Amino acid sequence: MTSKINVQDKSLLPTLLKKQKDSPFNFLSEDDVNSIAKELKLSRSRVYSTASFYSEISLSPRGKHIIRVCCNAPCENAGKEAIREAITKELGIEIDETTEDKLFTLESVNCLGACFMSPAMRIDDEIYGNLTPEETVKILNTYKKEHVDE
Ligand code: FES
Repeated sequence: MTSKINVQDKSLLPTLLKKQKDSPFNFLSEDDVNSIAKELKLSRSRVYSTASFYSEISLSPRGKHIIRVCCNAPCENAGKEAIREAITKELGIEIDETTEDKLFTLESVNCLGACFMSPAMRIDDEIYGNLTPEETVKILNTYKKEHVDE
């Protein structure tokens, strides 16, 4: 069976990701979805369904930094829960929550492709592995420090 994809469809995902990256709250608003549909000459429902399918894309406001903790078996067995607890204790947020200062959102994912260095987490585009709770807090503090002078 032949499959067909048009040029607009091919550029849809990169466009969605770029637009989200440009958003101060790491998400796509309804206006964003509408403007992308218009720009790429695609239906609004096509853009919306693609945006809702990918876990990387959010249709609700999130923090400046997205922390993704892996919850798959290798990370689970290597102590992921202690990492998640350290983040929750340090930032005061659970999975799918955002800090009051809108600096961090904590999410859970199935695999970061870094199983060889479990337990792992990803913050924005950086992956950190072989984590301990202490190391995790140190990493979070480097992100916090970046914003102290802002
Ligand atoms: S299982 Fe955790 S990164 Fe793959």
